[in-house]
Amino acid sequence: MEREDNMIDIDIKGITPFVTTQEIELSIAKALEAYDTLTSRKGRGNDYLGWLDLPADNNSSNQDRMKQIAAEWKSKAQVVVVIGIGGSYLGAKAALEALVHPFASELEINEGPRIVFAGQNLSQDYMAELVDLLEEKEYAAIVISKSGTTTEPAIAFRIIKNHLETKYGKEEAATRIVAVTDKSRGALKGVASKEGYRTFVIPDDVGGRYSVLTPVGLLPMALAGVDIDQMIKGAAKMRGICMDRSRGNIAVQYAALRNLLYGKGKTTEILVNFNPKLQYFAEWWKQLFGESEGKEGKGLFPASVNFTTDLHSMGQYIQEGERIMFETVLDIRQANRKYSVGSDPSDADGLNFLAGMEVEQVNKKARAGTKLAHIDGGVPNIQLEVERLDASNLGALFYFFEFACGVSAYMLGINPFDQPGVEDYKKNMFALLGKPGYEELGAKLKERL
Ligand code: PA5
Repeated sequence: MEREDNMIDIDIKGITPFVTTQEIELSIAKALEAYDTLTSRKGRGNDYLGWLDLPADNNSSNQDRMKQIAAEWKSKAQVVVVIGIGGSYLGAKAALEALVHPFASELEINEGPRIVFAGQNLSQDYMAELVDLLEEKEYAAIVISKSGTTTEPAIAFRIIKNHLETKYGKEEAATRIVAVTDKSRGALKGVASKEGYRTFVIPDDVGGRYSVLTPVGLLPMALAGVDIDQMIKGAAKMRGICMDRSRGNIAVQYAALRNLLYGKGKTTEILVNFNPKLQYFAEWWKQLFGESEGKEGKGLFPASVNFTTDLHSMGQYIQEGERIMFETVLDIRQANRKYSVGSDPSDADGLNFLAGMEVEQVNKKARAGTKLAHIDGGVPNIQLEVERLDASNLGALFYFFEFACGVSAYMLGINPFDQPGVEDYKKNMFALLGKPGYEELGAKLKERL
C-alpha cells in the first residue's frame, strides 16, 4: 500500500541484522492467527471488544453534546479539572500534550479553557497546589471513572466537589460538573444521579485503557479545542486498514515483530520519540501494553524515552548496557511549524555549518545517527512513521496500537482485556486504611510492616 493509504508506515530495516526473513514470515503467520482470534471475537476477554468498532459506530449525538458543553464552559471556565486515573486519564493527557500549544495559557490562546488533571495521584501537595489555582480561577470539572469506585479519583472528586459547591453554591456547581461513568453501576453514577449532573456513558464492552475514543478521552479533548471529528475520522480510517487480513497489515506486522524479538530475549520494548509532545502518548502506550500483556509471567516490559533529551541520560545504557531491549521509534516526518538555525558572522560557536537548516532537519539527522548507533550496539529498531502530528493521525495511532496490542497479547496466549494484578495493591491499601470488610487482611499486613 502507498503511504497515504496506510497513515502509518513501518520500516523494519533496523531489525534485519537480528532476525531472518524466514523468522519474520513465520511470526507474521502466527500474528495472523491471533488476528483471526481478535476479529472473530472468539478469544479470551471477548466481552471487552467494543473498542474495535468505536470509530465506525461514531456516536455523533454524543459528540454534539460534548461540543455544546465546550461552548458553554468556554465563556464561564478558565480552567477545567479532569479527574481520573489510568485509562480514565492517560488518553486525554496524551492527546492534549500532543495537540495543544504548550504555552497556550501564557499566550492566552483561547481555543478552550486550560485543562488540568486531578485524581491521577495521591499527592497532598499536588492537590493543595491545584486548589491554589482553583481559588483564583473560574472553573468546572469532569470526573471520569468507569467503575465509579476508584480511590484516587474518588478522593479528588470529593475535594473538588466541595470546593465547587463552596465557591459557586450547590446549584451552580452542578452545572459545572460532568460525570463520565458506567450507565448504571458504581458510586459515581449514584452521586451523579442524586446531584443531577450531566453524564456520558462509558460502554460496558470498552475497558479503561481502550477508552480514549469514548467520552473518556474525547470530552476533555473537545473542551480543549481539539478537533474530535478529525480524530475519529483518522481512527476510522485506521480501523479499515487494521481490519484488512493480509501479511502487509501494519498492526499484524508490528505485533509479529515485537513478539519475534521478545522470543529472542529482547524483553524490553522502548517506545522512542523525538518530539516532547509525544511524551504522554508513550505513557498511554505503556499502560495499554503493560496492563494488557503483563500477566501469567509473560509480556514485554514497555518503557519509553524522549529523544534527544534522554540521549543525554538513558543513551549510554541503551548503547552499551544489558542487551535486553529493542526500540520502536515513533517518527513524525514533518514538523507543523518552521524554524531554522540562523547564521552568525563571527561563528564563535562553530555552528555556521548548520546555518539556514531547519531545526527539524537537525532532529532528523539525530534520528538517523541514533538509529544506526543503536543498531550497531545490538538494539534492533522498528520504525513507525507518521506524516505529521495532528488530530487525525493521533486518532489513527490510538487505534493502531490498540489493535496491535490485541493481536500481540493473543500471540502470547493472554487475555488482553483484564487486569487482575492491579487489584492486589488496592486490597492492601484498603486493608491498611481500615476500610470496613478488610479487617483480617489489615491485621496480617500490619504484622509485616
Ligand atoms: O485500564 C484500566 O482498566 C485501568 O487502568 C482503569 O482505567 C483505571 O484503574 C481507572 O479505573 P476507573 O475508570 O474505573 O476509575
